Amino acid sequence: MSDLITVSDDLTFALANRHFAYVFRVSPEGILEHLHYGGPLGEPLNVQAHHRRTIRHVASTFQGGRHYSLSDTPQEYPGFGTSDYRFPAVHGRNADGNTVFSLHYHSHKIVDDKPALKGLPSSRGGRSQTLIITLQDKLHQLRVRLHYTIWEDHGVIARSVRFKNLSDKEIQLQHAFSTALDLPSGDYEIQHFHGTWAREFNAERIPVPQGRFVADSARGTSSTAHHNYLAVLQKGATEDFGRCYGTTLVYSGNFAISVERGEFEDVRVLAGINPFNFHWRLKPGKSFTTPEALHAFSGAGMRGLSAQWHGFIREHVTPERFRDTPRPTYLNTWEAAYFDVDENKVLDLADTAVDIGVDMLVLDDGWFEGRGDDTSSLGDWRADRERFPSGIPDLAAKVRAKGLKFGIWFEPEMVNPRSQLFTDHPDWILHVPGRVPSLGRNQLTLDLSRPEVQDYLFEQIDAVLSCGDVDYVKWDMNRNMTEVGSAALPASRQRETSHRYMLGLYRLLDRLTEAYPDVLFENCASGGNRFDLGMLSYMPQGWISDMCDPIGRLAIITGASHLYPLDVTAAYIGPSPNHQNGRISSVRTRFLAGVFCAARGVSLSEADIEAHRDEIAAHMAFAKATAPDMIGGRFERISSHGNEIAWQYTTADEQTVYLAYFHILSGPNQPFRRARLVGLDPDAQYRLDDGWDDTLGAPIDGEPESYRGDALMHSGLAMPQVAVGEKSPGVRYMPDGDFSAQLFVLRRQPG
Ligand code: GLA
Repeated sequence: MSDLITVSDDLTFALANRHFAYVFRVSPEGILEHLHYGGPLGEPLNVQAHHRRTIRHVASTFQGGRHYSLSDTPQEYPGFGTSDYRFPAVHGRNADGNTVFSLHYHSHKIVDDKPALKGLPSSRGGRSQTLIITLQDKLHQLRVRLHYTIWEDHGVIARSVRFKNLSDKEIQLQHAFSTALDLPSGDYEIQHFHGTWAREFNAERIPVPQGRFVADSARGTSSTAHHNYLAVLQKGATEDFGRCYGTTLVYSGNFAISVERGEFEDVRVLAGINPFNFHWRLKPGKSFTTPEALHAFSGAGMRGLSAQWHGFIREHVTPERFRDTPRPTYLNTWEAAYFDVDENKVLDLADTAVDIGVDMLVLDDGWFEGRGDDTSSLGDWRADRERFPSGIPDLAAKVRAKGLKFGIWFEPEMVNPRSQLFTDHPDWILHVPGRVPSLGRNQLTLDLSRPEVQDYLFEQIDAVLSCGDVDYVKWDMNRNMTEVGSAALPASRQRETSHRYMLGLYRLLDRLTEAYPDVLFENCASGGNRFDLGMLSYMPQGWISDMCDPIGRLAIITGASHLYPLDVTAAYIGPSPNHQNGRISSVRTRFLAGVFCAARGVSLSEADIEAHRDEIAAHMAFAKATAPDMIGGRFERISSHGNEIAWQYTTADEQTVYLAYFHILSGPNQPFRRARLVGLDPDAQYRLDDGWDDTLGAPIDGEPESYRGDALMHSGLAMPQVAVGEKSPGVRYMPDGDFSAQLFVLRRQPG
C-alpha cells in the first residue's frame, strides 16, 4: 500500500487517495489551517494557502499579530475567544473560570491502520493509515489529539478527538465536537433528513443560510426527528453532478451536526455530541474521547456520494461476521397476532412459515411474564408460563425442529412501572429527584449508565440465548428519554448521564455480541428512531420504519439510501389496509417496495396469508433465491418524478441488474418514461428476463432479445404504462392501477 498520508517539511499534511484529497497545514502562528477538501490532487501538492488579512475593521487580529485573524481562517479544530466568532469545536472552562480555548500544534505521528476508540463503536481499519495530531492549550494544560483515518479504497475520512487534562485542576468540557470542517466560500445547499414515527428519512434541501443551521437531537436517541447525517452540496447538485460532502457520526445518542455560513461566506460543519445539556468533568490526568465522525466526498453528485458511503459502511462499519451472509426470509408474529401470542399460536405460525417457504419464525412482543398489552412487564424477561408453559428454549427447539430458524424480540433498555423489575429497583430508571417521570408508551427508560443495570440485562438476555437455539434478536427501543438523570451520579455529573448511558449501552452490546457472535441482531427503535452507524456497528441490520405501507416505505428507503446500503435494512409484507395509514395495496407492491432490502419477510395474520398463500409463497421463494444477490451489490436511485420512482440494484458480481419501477397514482394520458441505467458494461449484452413473475410478459413485437449496456445507460429502458381503457399493442402495462410496481431483471450475457 502506498502512503496515504504525507507531511512536508513545512508541516503541510495531505491525506489523499484516488477519491479525494484533504490538506491542511500548521500556520506560522501554530494554528491548524484547513487548505483543501475535494477532488484528488497529484504531487507536488501546490495547494495555495488562504489569503491573509485584508482590512476588516471589526475583526480582531489573532494574539496581537497585524495580519492574521481567525475569523476568516479555515481551521481544523477551532477554539473560542481568540478572534474567531463562529461556533467553536470545543468550549468549556478551567478551574479559574477561564472559557477561552486556544489550541496550538504540538506534534504529530502517523500510524498504520486505525486504533479503535475506547468504549465507543468506530469504523474498522484495514488498508488504512491514521494521522494523529497533538494540539495543546498551554494555559489550561489541555492536550487535544485529533485522529484522522484514510483508507486506500474509500472516499471517506474518520475523525475523532481525545482530550487529556494534563493540569492538576479539573477542566469542564461544555462542548467537544468530533470534527470541524471549514469549506471555502461558495454556493452550497444543505441536504438533511427529518421525520417522525412511521415517516422517517424525508430529505430536505435548503440553501446554506447566513447564520447557523443545526440538525440535532436531545431525545437520548439519534432520532427520527433529525437523522444524524447531513450533506453539504454544491448548489444545484443532482444525482450525477456536483461536489458533495456528507457527514455522519458513529453514535446513537444526542448529537448535533451544524452548518454555519460566516460573515465571509465560508461554511463550517461541526458534528458531535449535542452541546446542549452536555457537560463533562475532566479530572486531572483523565481523558475524554469523542464519538467518531465520518466525512465522505464525491465530485460526481449524490449518487456518487451514496456509493462512497455504501461501500464503506459495508466494509468498515457493520459486523464483518455478517457482511457476506445472505439474510434469512422470515415470518414475524407482530402484525399476525400483536400481543396475543401463545405457544400453540406460535407453533401454528411456524407451520405457516414452513408452508410459505420462509427460513425463520420471529416471535415479536408479547411473550414474557404478564405482557398482555403495552402497559406492563418490560424488564421481566422470563417467558409467561401460562401462555408458554414449556418456556422459550423449548419453543425455540420445537420451531427449529420444523426446519426453521428462530428469532425473538427484546426491548432491554425499558421497564414498565407495572413490572417486578421496577418494584425491586425503582431507582434503576432515568429520573431526577422531585419530578414525576414522564411515560412513553407506558414505559420508563432504565439507567444504562449503571453497571448493575447492564449486568442485569446481560443475564436476562443470556438466559434466553444460552439455549443455543436462537438465531436472531430484534432489539427494540420504543421511547425517547425524559427526566434524564442518574441516581448513581453526583449532582455535578448529572449532565454526563446521556453520554454515560450510551457508553453503558455499547458496553452491553459489546458483551452480548462477543458472547453470541452468530446471532443476527436487528436494531429497531419504533422503526427508525435510532437507526445509525453506532447501532449498526453491532447489529448488521435495522428495522428502518414501522411504516409497512409500500408507498410510505418508498420515500423512506429512498431517503435512507443516501447514506445506508440496503444490506442493512429489513422489510416485510405487512397488512392491507395498512395499519399506519389505511392504504390498500397489492401483495406484489408491498413485496416489491422492499425487494432490495437484505432481509425480507411477511408479517400478516394467518387469514391474510391464507387469502394470498400462493402469491406470498412465490414472493418468498424469489426472496430466498435472491438473498445472496441482495448482499454487497449496488443500490442506485435512477429517477424520481414524484409519482414514479425507479431504483436499480446491480449484484456484486455484476451479472444481474434489477430495476424496480413504481407508479404511485394512476392517471390519464401519462407521459412515456424511460429509465436510464447506470454503471453497466457498455459493451456487454443484457437479456431482459421475464422470470421473476409472469406480469412482464414475453418480449413484445420488435423487441430485441437483449440490449447493449450503452443502450440501457444512454437511451434507457421504456417504462410500462398504467392501463386505462383500451390496451395498445407494443406497450408494456403496469399490473395494477394505483400503487403499481414492476420488476425488470436483466442478465448479463456471457462473452
Ligand atoms: C415497535 C416495533 C414493532 C414491534 C413493536 C412491538 O413498535 O417497531 O415492529 O416490534 O414495537 O411492541
